[in-house]
Amino acid sequence: MHQKEDTLQENQETAPQFSSQASFILTAAGSAIGLANLWKFPYIAFAYGGLNVLLPYFFFMIFVSIPLFVAETTIGAVTQKTPDQAFTLLRNGSRLWKWIGDSTIFTGFLISSFYSVVTGWILLYTVQAISKGFHFSSYVESAVHWNGCLQDWKWGVIGHTAVALLCLFILTQGVKKGLERLNQVCMPLFFVCIISLFIWSISLSGFWQAVSYLTSFQPTTNAGNSIILVALGHAFFTLSVGQGTLVTYGSYTKAQSTLFSSSIIIAFADTLISILSSVILIATVFSDIELNGTMTSGPSLLFEALPSFFSTMESGPWLPSFFFFFVFLAAITSQLSALEPSIRRIEAATSLGRKKSALLVIGSSWALGIIASISVSSFHLFSLNGTSWFDFISYVTTTYMLPLGAMAAAMLFLKAWHTKKLIQSSGEVLFADLPKMAQTYLLCSLKLAPIFILAIFIHALGIW
Ligand code: PHE
Repeated sequence: MHQKEDTLQENQETAPQFSSQASFILTAAGSAIGLANLWKFPYIAFAYGGLNVLLPYFFFMIFVSIPLFVAETTIGAVTQKTPDQAFTLLRNGSRLWKWIGDSTIFTGFLISSFYSVVTGWILLYTVQAISKGFHFSSYVESAVHWNGCLQDWKWGVIGHTAVALLCLFILTQGVKKGLERLNQVCMPLFFVCIISLFIWSISLSGFWQAVSYLTSFQPTTNAGNSIILVALGHAFFTLSVGQGTLVTYGSYTKAQSTLFSSSIIIAFADTLISILSSVILIATVFSDIELNGTMTSGPSLLFEALPSFFSTMESGPWLPSFFFFFVFLAAITSQLSALEPSIRRIEAATSLGRKKSALLVIGSSWALGIIASISVSSFHLFSLNGTSWFDFISYVTTTYMLPLGAMAAAMLFLKAWHTKKLIQSSGEVLFADLPKMAQTYLLCSLKLAPIFILAIFIHALGIW
């Protein structure tokens, strides 16, 4: 108790606040909805055979990711502190838990370093689409062009640097004027974009084939536990759980009693976006004679297949510009959310202030990102035994660090619940007014989450 008071006194500064519950929802949705929804999910849905993977994915969203989302935002909202302080506070001043809190912030920081590189590629493709459009005579030509861009280290560095400067400009404005305002503009724009693209996709010859592919079980070569683990890993990444963002965003709101419903709204929006983008992308793949119903993964889908498809449509620069701008909106809001916890952490613990903290964090993330960017260029300067730094850091953060952070949050939340530490600013016990069914759902799922997480590790280590 004594220690707990010490920790409370350590930082009396109050966290900045979003102006409304709607702003919290939009900004957290901005974090969740990102590249994972727009290119990873459609690929997974395609490669793992429609409902074969969608059903386990829905299961894990409902029973693992959403409860974790509620747990992490609640920890932030109840304590109004940064993850390191919040974890320490709920564990009576434990140094170990301070370290765990800090390591979740560090995970987000590492993610920001490579996420910025990809956001940079998208920015440059948006600029290219607007300025010249895409005029490839074949898929191969588009692939050659993309590889040429990637090989040129200067190209990647320019995009990555532009994204870092943009993030610096936005995040130095602070939480309300920068982060919140940007999401208030970008997210509604993003929703308009995806609905427009969905309507456009109805006109494609492959539209109904895509719908039927996604709504039935498809025979695939990918089967067994790999489907389950892909679905689980993706459910984690897409909701941004397991690193500092949700605790930090939670600390920016006092709308504690509505966190449960807000989380459901965000998860629903995130899933809807994933499904809509799957229909759009799979429909293009089925409509493209050259692709002939085959779908490539990750970058090649976005940077090779789509530009080649847009070239065949002769739609002018409008459609590709619109498309890449839309992907950019999703990426930049997620990138900001990966940077924010570190900035807030430094701002709260030092006298540097918001601007210098932002400069320090974004500068370091930029430097690390330069390594990631160069590692995938023809330089191969930062790659070991054929694995680039980019691949290494994205694998380690998503496979090990995110699940570990999520496991810690689940355990912390359960302990705080049982020891009645989840007290709202109004003095009432949090979630006490939630229907019994919802309480049971939350508690049981959080108890089961660490078991599922352990399964990921066992699989990653090759034991299962
Ligand atoms: N949720 C983001 C996406 O779907 C990824 C992300 C993870 C962003 C963690 C920030 C932190 O693309």
